[in-house]
Amino acid sequence: MSIQGRLSSVWEGTALPRFEAITSNQKTEVCVIGGGISGISIAYKMAKRGHKVTLVEAFTIGSGQTGRTTAHLTCQLEEQFVQLLKMHDLETVQAFLDAHRSAIDIIETNVFSEHIDCDFKRLDGYLFQGRNFSEAKLRKEQDAGRKSGINLDYVEKTPLLSGAVAGLRFPRQAQFNPIKYMAGLLAAMRKLDVTIFENTHVRHIENLDPETTVISTDSGYDIEAKYLVVATDSPINNRFYIHTKQFAYRTYAMAFTLEGPVADECLLWDTEDPYHYVRFVDGTLVVGCEDHRTGQDPDGDPFRNLEEWTRKNFAFVRDVKEKWSGQVFEPADQIGYIGKNPGPEKNIYITTGQSGIGMTSATIASVLIPELIEHGTHPWAAVFDPSRPPVRGLSDFVLENVNVAYQYKDWVTGSEVESLQEIPEDHGSIMREGLIAKSCVYHEKGDCFEKKSAFCTHLGAVVHWNDIEKTWDCPAHGSRFNTHGAVIEGPAIDGLSER
Ligand SMILES: Cc1cc2nc3c(=O)[nH]c(=O)nc-3n(C[C@H](O)[C@H](O)[C@H](O)COP(=O)(O)OP(=O)(O)OC[C@H]3O[C@@H](n4cnc5c(N)ncnc54)[C@H](O)[C@@H]3O)c2cc1C
Ligand code: FES
Repeated sequence: MSIQGRLSSVWEGTALPRFEAITSNQKTEVCVIGGGISGISIAYKMAKRGHKVTLVEAFTIGSGQTGRTTAHLTCQLEEQFVQLLKMHDLETVQAFLDAHRSAIDIIETNVFSEHIDCDFKRLDGYLFQGRNFSEAKLRKEQDAGRKSGINLDYVEKTPLLSGAVAGLRFPRQAQFNPIKYMAGLLAAMRKLDVTIFENTHVRHIENLDPETTVISTDSGYDIEAKYLVVATDSPINNRFYIHTKQFAYRTYAMAFTLEGPVADECLLWDTEDPYHYVRFVDGTLVVGCEDHRTGQDPDGDPFRNLEEWTRKNFAFVRDVKEKWSGQVFEPADQIGYIGKNPGPEKNIYITTGQSGIGMTSATIASVLIPELIEHGTHPWAAVFDPSRPPVRGLSDFVLENVNVAYQYKDWVTGSEVESLQEIPEDHGSIMREGLIAKSCVYHEKGDCFEKKSAFCTHLGAVVHWNDIEKTWDCPAHGSRFNTHGAVIEGPAIDGLSER
């Protein structure tokens, strides 16, 4: 079973080298927490620039969201250009676009300079018309794209779709296998003497003075570093501030076998909200969508909806080969948070809020954070500054935070079941115990039950059962726990308490 839940993604058969857990105290110049594409890209770049780097990963490299991604490399910035230009000034949108477009070039350069065999391929991407999106709106998006700095061709018929569906062509986008890409960077990092620890969970971070941060791990060993980069997708060092400015969503993906090879492979995504995203992986069509707030009920059966949509739009798919889900963190104003951690500490950096463009965001972080560490400035710094106020996405910020506050209603609601026997096998339920306590109970089978406190160890919201991945998910800020109560995704650091 994957760390992230019951289902496995298309990449999980791809091998990565394994590393030992920490067994002694360490002293380093730069400590990077998190072995996903962000942590690996940043650690690689820092080592390449001559720094002494140590990377720590709670489980295994790639076991976070990087192992669940679909790995489109695009400069469609999650939101359409029309919306971005309503939210931000032109200069910001142009810099945002420039950063993501450059990130694809940087990945390509890394692939060639490090000789990484990761199926990297340049190809066109198409934004195509979804339900209720008129031709006039598509033309407006084309204009907004041009203003922002990208020329998009209008096409009457988007390739591969059943029927004549209009779209906008994004030239020179790309795709790759993210696990093979990380394997290539890891090989380069080995030559650069980067120290890597897997199965090393960070429990506590303490900034002693501007030059010293101590990172304490579950095994009792510490790492002392001058600079710390927290690349845990959802930052584990930042208890409150950042988590009011980004929101956790589950998203679903499926891989379909095909009737035969497809000649004109491309990337596709539509204008709907949430949008569908489509690419090819090893002769299968991989489709994703059905996003909903983590720990809150999906709209129907996500996989059934996704399969219906796929069969309607792609006449050449056959059987479902894989299906899985993952998590993305949506920033209130649509731009990720990359840079100095908000707060008084001097040498702590974060990268988060990457939404569905985490491959290029990770690469931007690998440029921006080393520049900030070495020179304290970079032309992209203000755009991605984690301390910027949420004024630009204010309405989303307010609505999403009202949603978070509403989740605390579960403190006073009753039990989902009255007795353990009502919980079906391989299923979890919430039980009220007395006036204040609530438990989450997983019924494994027969008389075997796992009972933990249902209060999330981040900020105390009541976790919800995720029956698709068989995990406990927090509806407030997206922490997730396995059936034994161990934390598998932050911002929580501790597992669910014993009951
Ligand atoms: C279904 C799906 C489709 C997507 N499609 C795309 C796409 O097409 N294009 C795109 O660009 N992006 C896409 N994304 C987003 C992208 O996958 C993510 O943004 C990206 O992988 C995040 O990488 P990361 O390294 O920041 O985080 P992760 O890969 O999650 O890595 C963070 C690591 O930190 C570790 N960690 C956490 N806490 C601790 C701790 N206390 N101690 C030590 N280690 C810790 C975790 O174990 C984890 O391995 C998609 C995401 C999903 C789920
Ligand atoms: S993730 Fe914040 S309360 Fe659970």
